[in-house]
Amino acid sequence: MKAHDGIYLDGAWRPALSRDLIDVVDPVDEQVVARVPAAGPDDVDAAVRAARTALPGWAATAPAERAARLTALRDALAARQEEIAETVTAELGSPIGFSRAVHAAVPIAVAGSYAELAASHGFEETVGNSTVLHEPIGVVAAITPWNYPLHQIVAKAAPALAAGCTIVVKPAEDTPLVAQLFAEAAHEAGLPAGVLNLVTGRGPVAGQALAEHPGVDLVSFTGSTAVGRVIGATAGAAVKKVALELGGKSANVILPSADLARAVNVGVANVMSNSGQTCSAWTRMLVHRDRYDEAVELARTAAAKYGDRIGPLVNAKQQARVLGYIEKGVAEGARLVAGSTEPPRERGYFVSPTVLADVTPEMTVAQEEIFGPVLSVLRYDDEEDALRIANGTVYGLAGAVWAGDEAEAVAFARRMDTGQVDINGGRFNPLAPFGGYKQSGVGRELGAHGLTEYLQTKSLQF
Ligand code: NAI
Ligand code: MG
Repeated sequence: MKAHDGIYLDGAWRPALSRDLIDVVDPVDEQVVARVPAAGPDDVDAAVRAARTALPGWAATAPAERAARLTALRDALAARQEEIAETVTAELGSPIGFSRAVHAAVPIAVAGSYAELAASHGFEETVGNSTVLHEPIGVVAAITPWNYPLHQIVAKAAPALAAGCTIVVKPAEDTPLVAQLFAEAAHEAGLPAGVLNLVTGRGPVAGQALAEHPGVDLVSFTGSTAVGRVIGATAGAAVKKVALELGGKSANVILPSADLARAVNVGVANVMSNSGQTCSAWTRMLVHRDRYDEAVELARTAAAKYGDRIGPLVNAKQQARVLGYIEKGVAEGARLVAGSTEPPRERGYFVSPTVLADVTPEMTVAQEEIFGPVLSVLRYDDEEDALRIANGTVYGLAGAVWAGDEAEAVAFARRMDTGQVDINGGRFNPLAPFGGYKQSGVGRELGAHGLTEYLQTKSLQF
């Protein structure tokens, strides 16, 4: 795989000061496909300085010009669509069809949405005798994960750029190559030097240095709750703004009046997609006790059909973690109806599509984020019980409700403590705010709500 041997700093690819390197591994065959720099604190410092220097100029650029650069960025990404898909397949392991349809296509759409929002957003408003200016918050640090590697960069960089912020991106160790493609596209789009910088590096070194850097005004992080807590505390102590997009344990609530087969099939597909490495995945399926056995059988059949069609997990650590959760589920009394506690292949970080039945709300597999192709199926007695179970975790990122009548599903969804709910299989909307209630996070991404995260207000009185 093609890789840059430098970091993208102040408008050019430059050698990192640190000599450390990161091996990029293909999770399907465990071979090293490329090496990239593992930047150190001095590299991070240089990137933040470049972003600070570029800030006044970019912040003062007219929104229409920022929109034009974002349109060019969208086009540069679109021109690389196939290369993006192949790169994500090489470093994340996802099947090429999924890489094309999701890992490449969604970020292009999101970049396009911010080109439009940059042009149309009201950066000034009148409130009585005041004019309120919505100004860029400053230098943004974006620390991103590997599960939707380009989407998560674009979901931070595009609104930050639209707002007039400059940015330093620190992508996940496992997926730096698509991040390099993104920096290439930004370069081609004609962003002024220093407006976007890319520092590949390790979380506890480059990531931490970036989150702690006094030259950063906002830290936007997506990843584990454990690291998010630390970043939130560090940012809080420095009085920096922070946006956190963390884990989930989302409930797929199938009410008794629902089309059971459809709800179960879509629910299983939702969990197996991206090999279960999706923060918003509906990993708990809640079924009324009268229809429970039928639902489990449908889920078993659906999971078996996936077989080898899902890709591996990103790395050996995640594979071990997910297999450990399946074992723990069985040890705590869950019934393994599809999948296995053993890897299905000798080579590659694969885990079989797994369904656990007889899961009760207090079990570990009903409470903790597993981040693999593992569905827990729980029973409920009545609607109040379903609601208690649905809301009974520390998380609140997403969810689904299925009912014969849409109004019935909506009434239930209103009572859920969660940031997004899909009604009877509603489609993903790249303009809808995305983010967590409770410990799933702080702040919202995507659409106009995502843009305002990168703005601060100034009121002028007349
Ligand atoms: P992680 O939280 O360690 O990695 C996410 C990002 O944070 C990466 O860029 C990493 O380099 C960086 N990072 C790590 N330590 C840091 C530190 N001390 N300071 C600053 N940045 C740091 O997540 P990991 O270990 O890859 O995955 C573990 C679990 O986290 C998964 O099993 C899953 O449950 C959850 N996760 C959730 C994601 C989401 O979309 N919300 C995405 C990835 C992981
Ligand atoms: Mg890898």
